Amino acid sequence: KEVALGIDIGGTNTVFGFIDKEGKCLLTGSIPTQKHHDINDYLDELFKHVEKEIENSLEELDIVGIGIGAPNACYYTGTIEDAANLRWKGRIPFVSLVKKRLDVPVYITNDANAAAMGEKVFGAARNMNNFLVITLGTGLGSGIFVNGDILHGHDGFAGEVGHMIVRKSGRECGCGRKGCLETYVSATGVKRSVYKLLARHTGDSELRDIPFNNLTAKMVAEAANRGDEVAKETFTYTATILGEVLANVVAVTSPEAIFLFGGLTKAGDILFKPVEETLEEQLLAIYKGKIKVMPSGIKDNAAVLGAAALIWNKK
Ligand code: BGC
Ligand code: NA
Ligand code: ZN
Repeated sequence: KEVALGIDIGGTNTVFGFIDKEGKCLLTGSIPTQKHHDINDYLDELFKHVEKEIENSLEELDIVGIGIGAPNACYYTGTIEDAANLRWKGRIPFVSLVKKRLDVPVYITNDANAAAMGEKVFGAARNMNNFLVITLGTGLGSGIFVNGDILHGHDGFAGEVGHMIVRKSGRECGCGRKGCLETYVSATGVKRSVYKLLARHTGDSELRDIPFNNLTAKMVAEAANRGDEVAKETFTYTATILGEVLANVVAVTSPEAIFLFGGLTKAGDILFKPVEETLEEQLLAIYKGKIKVMPSGIKDNAAVLGAAALIWNKK
């Protein structure tokens, strides 16, 4: 059976899957991204897992190509460059390193671009030509579809919405600067906000005294849904900042819809509601009432599907 290997490299985990032409995900696996400082050790582990899955598969799988989504990836050069949330620094020739292991067509794009491709080819944006995908994970990524195609830009790095500066001299970012959107709006940003708000609150909170490394955004979402004030305020704070920035991004791109992706969106209404409200409030009149904010139309592995779409789109 012909499949594309889709790989989604996140700041925390790398997920891969074998995707057939119809967008069906046959098998998946994952490894932690940050375990290896050395890119070759990382690829050793990744391909060991890929091969194991192939061996265990009941069906004979024929990999016709590999599509990859990764932070700070450049579609034109096949490289990953100075990613804020990865351990490999400098310019990594990712595509050629992968080709050395499996000589098939290999394409890479930004992880959020891959998620947007997934939405376009297999998801809820099939009939849309202008839309945004915002991924909320370790960092904040954006995939921007304009006039029916991903916006790559001159160097291939268009759409770094996560590093738009939203607070002058604000929180330190992995990119080396201060006040970037993703330091506030991401799983990590949510955690940082919890401590900020806890310091101001005198009342009880189930989040008090949890060390940073034990706290997860999921715990904050659960606490918020149980009514914890600090947790609720954290989500309002986060979503308000996102809504404001989205109003600006809308002014540049005029999208039909904005899809929010990633772990943080499992928080549901406590995230979506204030994003929608703030966006609506801040939008320029010509856009008011027209921009849909939606969850992904793909249940699982949207970015893996999107990465695989890089291959199927070419066939
Ligand atoms: C990177 C983006 C990436 C996003 C989500 C950001 O820090 O700069 O390229 O899409 O994280 O992983
Ligand atoms: Na992007
Ligand atoms: Zn930054």
